[in-house]
Amino acid sequence: MRKITMLGTGLIGNFYTQVLQGLRSRDRVHVVYSRSEERGREFAKRWNVPRYTTDLKDAINDPETDVVVIGLPNNLHKEAALLAAKAGKAVLCTKPLGRTAAEAKAMLDAVEKAGVFHGYLEDLVYTPKMMKSLDFVRSGAIGRVLWARSRETHSGPHSAWFWDKDASGGGAIIDLGCHCIEIARNYIGKDVRPVEVMCWADTQVHPIEAEDHSIGLVRYENGAIGQFEVSWSFRGGMDLRDEVAGTEGTIWANNFLRTGLEWFTATGRSDGYVAEKAEGEKGWLFPVADETVDLGYVHMFTDMLNALDEGRQPLETFYDGYVVNAIIDACYKSAKTKRWEPVKLAVWRGQGATPNAAKSRAAAPKEDGKYQTIKREKLPDGRVKLILKDKKTGKVIERVE
Ligand SMILES: NC(=O)c1ccc[n+]([C@@H]2O[C@H](COP(=O)([O-])OP(=O)(O)OC[C@H]3O[C@@H](n4cnc5c(N)ncnc54)[C@H](O)[C@@H]3O)[C@@H](O)[C@H]2O)c1
Repeated sequence: MRKITMLGTGLIGNFYTQVLQGLRSRDRVHVVYSRSEERGREFAKRWNVPRYTTDLKDAINDPETDVVVIGLPNNLHKEAALLAAKAGKAVLCTKPLGRTAAEAKAMLDAVEKAGVFHGYLEDLVYTPKMMKSLDFVRSGAIGRVLWARSRETHSGPHSAWFWDKDASGGGAIIDLGCHCIEIARNYIGKDVRPVEVMCWADTQVHPIEAEDHSIGLVRYENGAIGQFEVSWSFRGGMDLRDEVAGTEGTIWANNFLRTGLEWFTATGRSDGYVAEKAEGEKGWLFPVADETVDLGYVHMFTDMLNALDEGRQPLETFYDGYVVNAIIDACYKSAKTKRWEPVKLAVWRGQGATPNAAKSRAAAPKEDGKYQTIKREKLPDGRVKLILKDKKTGKVIERVE
């Protein structure tokens, strides 16, 4: 059994606690921290938490607590992580790890120096669809991953601090792009170095300083490309979709807006709730069977706490959060300069440089005697057409068999 200090009583504090104490779990939230005594009391009552406090240090230093979960606004992650490291507690931090790579690096350094367990709570790489698909990719079934595209769009976040650039560190890129970037990184391979990014960002709708819409490309050292599409101005619910293209296969995953469950109601339900960020309450509705499972929270905490018990690293650590922040820093720069910008990683723990990456890409077509096969296609009349490249002259011809 683990005794947990929960920092934050907002949307994510509630989701996390529901999961940590759900499904006959042995783990318990033991202390909750909130700025407001009233919200702390109310949260403690709702989740049967023995103690609440308005003192951050007191919550973290509680002698019985062995795991600190950070569910606070982005500008408070670093302070909380540093306090947890100092107290020698295991620490799990929600996304994004920091507002910048510099903040994330300070957090990584602190937990590593203190030798405490650390996990990056990137739930969307733990969704059942993602885990099943990652297993498919790792089995070799789609060949080499060429392109991993991930989208998270909705009509904008639910609390004021997200919209304040100083508190959040940015707009849709830092808030949603962090998920998409880590999803693509998992598909492409976390040991493959992200090299450079090209990013468009704009403020299309909301009267804010930060971006409310962005599209970005992350180029990896092996030639693969990660693509993210994020928006705070998308209407119609929360769209979480991934597509992966490999040399031998393809994956399409719709995690939230169209999961196969469809309801119609002329009246609406009494509490009005359908799913996170759903915009309609009546007519045809597209709910999610179990948000805590379908958003990855259940499998995420299972991995995190099992890893802690087993003395191993979880699938997502502060190092991963740091890499994501470094990619995001480059995105903000590229959105300004309108150029490809390098991803600056002071520490790289994946594969070394692969100078033959370009060569290995060109070697992909199959050898066929005098020719290399560029493409093989079955025609409507049943014959097979081959597009071939002469290996000596480079001339491209076609042949129907
Ligand atoms: N899928 C996910 O992983 C996911 C989803 C939502 C939010 N988050 C992350 O969780 C964190 C919190 O987001 P949220 O949606 O719960 O926000 P929220 O606004 O619903 O809750 C934030 C909590 O922090 C408290 N708080 C706000 N300002 C504070 C301050 N200055 N000092 C102390 N406490 C303060 C609020 O009272 C509240 O308890 C953010 O980092 C966000 O990015 C992650």
